[in-house]
Amino acid sequence: MRTSWRSTLALTIASSWMLACVGAGTGGGEPDRAALSQRVRAVFGTLPFEASSRANPVTEYKIELGRMLYYDKRLSKNHDIACNSCHLLDQFGVDGAPTSTGHRGQRGSRNAPTVYNAAFHVAQFWDGRAANVEEQAKGPPLNPIEMAMSSEAAVEVVLQSIPGYALRFQDAFPRKSPPITYDQMARAIGAFERRLVTPSRFDRFQRGELGALSAQELAGLELFMSTGCLSCHNGPAIGGRMYQKLGLIHPYPTQDQGRYEVTRAEADRQLFKVPSLRNVAKTGPYFHDGQVATLDQAVRLMAHHQLGRELSESRVQAIVAFLGSLTGTVDTSYIARPHLPPSGPTTPAPDPS
Ligand code: HEC
Ligand code: HEC
Repeated sequence: MRTSWRSTLALTIASSWMLACVGAGTGGGEPDRAALSQRVRAVFGTLPFEASSRANPVTEYKIELGRMLYYDKRLSKNHDIACNSCHLLDQFGVDGAPTSTGHRGQRGSRNAPTVYNAAFHVAQFWDGRAANVEEQAKGPPLNPIEMAMSSEAAVEVVLQSIPGYALRFQDAFPRKSPPITYDQMARAIGAFERRLVTPSRFDRFQRGELGALSAQELAGLELFMSTGCLSCHNGPAIGGRMYQKLGLIHPYPTQDQGRYEVTRAEADRQLFKVPSLRNVAKTGPYFHDGQVATLDQAVRLMAHHQLGRELSESRVQAIVAFLGSLTGTVDTSYIARPHLPPSGPTTPAPDPS
């Protein structure tokens, strides 16, 4: 007990000292990197190598199949849109647009979040309307402005018409009959997503590689914790764990009612899932509507609307630098575009209508 309050006190002092340095803009010294590394590890927790699930255990067969389905445009009405059209795996899982283009060029009102590390989130979508990645994956194929298929059965007909998928589904779901169902399609995609996990320099620092972060990134990390960002963006994914009101202190101009659209509870108006900040330097534009173009601006708006604080330019830049240390990738072989099995004689033709 005694050591624990002593070390807590020591850390508090260390962090206020650190803050004093940043505040004065002197950069007059380095924090105790070893102590900070340990504290950060305790505060955020370590990022697992996969977001495992008892309901849908990840297997190599599911991953192989899920990767194919993720890239397969035949799951869309006009054979022109796949998951990878809006969540490009070689572009940090996003399309870089404020809102995405679906069937016949239609656009929704929300920004496509990254699929990387999404399986760790408490729920999926900005409003949490799907419980997990498996449930989420059932949405886009049937969404009229996304992949626009007419029904689950129509998707099953397509999958059953592609001879090469029969064995793949059997291997992935050996105890299921029939192996090819809409549900199992979603489970395979979900299993693939559960390993879209991107450790970064931040994790190396946490593990004790004390030189992994620059002095400015460390200052930003300290500020991130001491300014209050951490109260919402926490856990190993640096977010994704709760819903919070956008505009908690100062109202934020948006028509989108967020979580309220799902629950119809007054208290949920303009609550959104707190996004994970992993790879955030690469996943702009920002916010649920994609209306914030730069990360600097996103940080300034967060400080103002969520915390009622105006940050100095040097503090904004330090936080942005820290956020940059959250950029990571998976093995390129894991996301490499797979060879897709050719269509069979009964595979429905593309339908542009
Ligand atoms: C036409 C573009 C488009 C396509 C195609 C698409 N998505 Fe999305 N995706 C979005 C948008 C936009 C959202 C956010 C919608 C919302 O929150 O209401 C989203 C949300 C998600 C999320 C939630 C992430 C989070 O942080 O909450 C996941 C996971 C996801 N998509 C995976 C997929 C998969 C898997 C497929 C293929 C089966 C797919 N998407 C197809 C645009 C697309
Ligand atoms: C009270 C909770 C809360 C606090 C405090 C908070 N955030 Fe957020 N943050 C959110 C929510 C909710 C969103 C999603 C906003 C939306 O709906 O677009 C968000 C979004 C963001 C985004 C945009 C991510 C994206 O993918 O679009 C960034 C960057 C961000 N926050 C950084 C910060 C920083 C830096 C701080 C501290 C200065 C901070 N946040 C403090 C809740 C919070």
